[in-house]
Amino acid sequence: MPSEQLPNIFELTPLDPKFREAPHQVLDDLRSQCPVYREPAAGTFILTRYADVRATVSDLEMWRDPLRAEAAAVFQRRLAETAVTGEPRAETTSILMLDDPDHARIRQPLARALYARVAKGRANVERIVDSALDRLENEPEFDLMSEFCVPIPIDVIAAILGVDHERLGEFRDWSEGVIQAVNPFRDAAQTEHMERSRAALTDYFTQMLALRRKAPQDDLFSDMTRLQAEGLPISDTELRINLSALLVGGNLTTTDLIGNAVRLLLTHPDELAKLQADPGIINAVVEETLRYDPPVDITSRIASRDIEVGGCPIKTSQSILVSLRGANRDPEMFSDPHRFDVSRKHHPHLAFGGGAHICIGAPLARMEAQVGISRLFNRFPNLRLVDPEEPPAWRMLPFFRGLQHLKVSAH
Ligand code: HEM
Repeated sequence: MPSEQLPNIFELTPLDPKFREAPHQVLDDLRSQCPVYREPAAGTFILTRYADVRATVSDLEMWRDPLRAEAAAVFQRRLAETAVTGEPRAETTSILMLDDPDHARIRQPLARALYARVAKGRANVERIVDSALDRLENEPEFDLMSEFCVPIPIDVIAAILGVDHERLGEFRDWSEGVIQAVNPFRDAAQTEHMERSRAALTDYFTQMLALRRKAPQDDLFSDMTRLQAEGLPISDTELRINLSALLVGGNLTTTDLIGNAVRLLLTHPDELAKLQADPGIINAVVEETLRYDPPVDITSRIASRDIEVGGCPIKTSQSILVSLRGANRDPEMFSDPHRFDVSRKHHPHLAFGGGAHICIGAPLARMEAQVGISRLFNRFPNLRLVDPEEPPAWRMLPFFRGLQHLKVSAH
């Protein structure tokens, strides 16, 4: 099929009304017509087949750092535009964009410390969810996104890190600002917000690391300064950048997972009835939401050598975007892929990517979503959409899928 009939990069984001409303029509067509697609405007390959996406993200030799992409890779080069030159790469960007050996040096100890915090943090998540629900107790109608889905991940990651409660408002604003780092189409105002937020986070994290070094507490700031004191080769700048990355990576995405799950349950009453009859299936509900409506549409890699995907040659330094959303609805992998079915037995979805860069926050996101959704429907068993006819209000951030608002009635 001629490439002019295939979607360009914008037509694969919610900025395009057709994709915003029916992304799977676009992705299904692309997968069946050109599953290994070289998009000319952005100079990148786009993969939509489950097997290709999985093999690519799991390939431990692939690169991630946008600086390694060829000049034609517009999308990657724009992400690299803000790269600081003359400093070690690990002092200027988080693990999300780093390659080994820096990636492994920083990610492994951070992941161990984070997983230990998550493993003992369930009661804290329950407390945070319950207090969000308490605030809604007497509200007949409310916006579930702003009142529930947004505050929970921020409060949870703040508690894990050890952020002061009174700084949470600023934290929310900074988190929204720094997420623009992953928006290749950001405008001047968004770039300004991103830079202001980065500076504010740097100052705050610098203060917190100094404070915890002197007087450790039961939190992740203290875990990391302790490891550093014990000889872990990680600088203060690296710590700051990567602890901030937990806010960037974790807040919007987990907000969207909870919002997408609740909307799906409210628009699929039979599936909600299954959860209400057997609350023990909450894990399956969250996994099916991650498959069916993943909060992150794509991730990327850069070929570190000449390879072949689906019979197409891809050369060293060429950019590869993988559609996690497309992979999750591939009929070769999932039977009846466009059916939201919480009774599915097998969920090998790719919502968290894979390989060396697989989402470091996946266990936390899963726990927050499981606790949040269960407790929401326990507290408000008659929860419903205020206007079931209203089309979903998808946010316009490229490559993320979440709702701007979700008006619900609790009683
Ligand atoms: C439902 C919620 C979430 C989704 C859908 C999600 C999705 C993703 C995806 C797709 C990647 C890229 C993986 C790859 O390229 O193979 C990623 C990486 C990452 N995520 Fe998440 N994420 C979520 C929650 C979180 C949370 C809660 C945190 C922090 C606490 C977090 C922090 C990160 C970080 C730091 C990375 C970079 C990891 C690396 O490159 O080594 N994410 N996430």
